[in-house]
Amino acid sequence: MNAPINSSRRLLHQDGAVGVKVENMKPGITVVGSVNMDLVFRTPRMPVLGETISGREFREIPGGKGANQAVAAARQGGAVFFVGCVGDDGFATRSLASLQQDGIDTSAIRQVANCATGVAGIFVEDQGGNSIVLAAGANAELSIADIDAASSRIAHSKLLICQLETPLATVRHAIALAASQQVAVMLNPAPAQDLDDALLAQVTYLIVNETESAQLSGIAVTDQASAEQAAQKLLQRGVKAVLLTMGEHGVLVADSSGCRAFKGISVEVVDTTAAGDTFVGALAVGLANGLSLDQAAMDAQYAAALTVTQLGAQSSIPSLAQVQAFKQKLAA
Ligand code: RIB
Repeated sequence: MNAPINSSRRLLHQDGAVGVKVENMKPGITVVGSVNMDLVFRTPRMPVLGETISGREFREIPGGKGANQAVAAARQGGAVFFVGCVGDDGFATRSLASLQQDGIDTSAIRQVANCATGVAGIFVEDQGGNSIVLAAGANAELSIADIDAASSRIAHSKLLICQLETPLATVRHAIALAASQQVAVMLNPAPAQDLDDALLAQVTYLIVNETESAQLSGIAVTDQASAEQAAQKLLQRGVKAVLLTMGEHGVLVADSSGCRAFKGISVEVVDTTAAGDTFVGALAVGLANGLSLDQAAMDAQYAAALTVTQLGAQSSIPSLAQVQAFKQKLAA
């Protein structure tokens, strides 16, 4: 049986009227995307082919680019509606609980029978870098029909966020629907893959790291000049604005007004997993709240920096209060 999973019946958000359920409200931000359980191994170094090494610690942590971005947006104060698929296993129950705990409306998450929830095997080495292997599971089942079932919610959103851990045809359909309704579209094209100009022309905000930028622009980012060339190329391909994230080297924002570079924030790195996802979620909330693109990008960097100081994906995404305290500490 494939069934929608109702979000908890708790009254998570109220809109002046007592008893307004989150399912009945206009969401600020809709995320169409993946749900994974991350199987995380901390390791002194990456094993080479054919080698067995002893790791340090193992944890199961809710993840998935879509789910992480939704959690990041919710923890920064956004009202978030999620469209996705999970399997019919224990990972589904735990992944959903994690989303609901953050007040995310999960009523458009479909449970796929006889299917595993998406899984990511993640090796995190001592310097904080990682390698990830994905098994898409139910994420591969997210369909055009799922988007159509959520079409009115998408059409009434302030902003749609998509990534590429679900089928491209489904992502394309969601983006076309949002664009046709003048809903701003934020695309994080991760994992990197080729995309056509017709799709990119419907994207308002393209958030890329160096790898994704190189894949879509054909220009390797090695310094400020090449970052600007890559961003200009992506604008020429049709997106309205580019945010090129470069970790501790900061973020480059490019749109019709030109390119602006913002310095990165130095922190002690434990694990870089979900830093990009946190940037996306925080950026979305800033924009939905009416901040300028530059201000929203600068604020999102603080949230992303805090994420890399902790192990795991959803376990490391900070709350608004934590981000504000961090900003104040750095300003003092
Ligand atoms: O961006 C980080 C995420 O990528 C992890 O949570 C993992 O699930 C993979 O999807």
